[in-house]
Amino acid sequence: MLILAFDDYIEQARRLSNTLDFPLQKVYLHHFPDGESLVRLPPSIPEHIIICRSLNQPNDKLIELMLCAKTARQLGAKRITLLAPYLCYMRQDTANQPGEAISQQIIGQLLAELFDDVITVDSHLHRISKLNQAIAIEHAISLTAADEIASFLKQKFDYAVLFGPDAESQQWVAAIAKKVGFDYAVANKIRQGDTQVIMTLPAFDFANKPVIIIDDMASTGRTITKATGLLQKAGATQINVAVTHALFCGDAKEHILNSGVKQIWSTDSINHSSACIHLDNLLAKAIKQIY
Ligand code: R5P
Repeated sequence: MLILAFDDYIEQARRLSNTLDFPLQKVYLHHFPDGESLVRLPPSIPEHIIICRSLNQPNDKLIELMLCAKTARQLGAKRITLLAPYLCYMRQDTANQPGEAISQQIIGQLLAELFDDVITVDSHLHRISKLNQAIAIEHAISLTAADEIASFLKQKFDYAVLFGPDAESQQWVAAIAKKVGFDYAVANKIRQGDTQVIMTLPAFDFANKPVIIIDDMASTGRTITKATGLLQKAGATQINVAVTHALFCGDAKEHILNSGVKQIWSTDSINHSSACIHLDNLLAKAIKQIY
């Protein structure tokens, strides 16, 4: 067994390798001036390998993963597990207009062709309930970071209201609330564009209470800032944010902090200054279960 990791996930892979006591090697990557990628694996690899890379900013990474997996097969790998704590393209699960690509299915098929197992965390599944409906392999596993986030929040708060900004977040906020024993409330959100959202608060008394906004991911941060504005008007005393995947594109982090959010916490699925909740135990347990 060997863990292979790209440089952008190397620290997390090192923790996983220590937890599992599996050796770790790096995938060498070079970007040519024209944007093409060169991928190099160790020339001698065992039959079972785990390739680690989170798939935020995914387009180059998907090509590099394909080069990596196909090269690993040529080098004799018989079972290749993809460990992608953040899995891309899972939100595009329907054609909103005629002719639009249903990316979840297309990328899912690609991953099913390349890998024997795919393990991810809090994958954004909306119209399907199981990851293997998108990636048709036996071990298409979407774990949840709910326990890890709940333990982290429990150490920081005796009480807070957990707030889900949209219907999809209900699954995560409810799971975390159950573990910490806090109240939770879920808003209604309509997305009108990449950075435009309309939100309505649920009937809940937020006045004089600390609130933690919970979501699977923050991308532009506009969902969080919209929620923050409404929660402030509703009298929340302090607003913090905990997300699984810190995509935080462009000015998202500044935008969120400027809106009045006190602190942002995320898991280490993606490298980010907010990433303080480690996932190695969760991931190691899942790997032990399939091997
Ligand atoms: C969508 O439903 C997700 O759970 C997040 O709420 C969304 O991706 C956040 O996007 P943004 O940060 O761009 O508002």
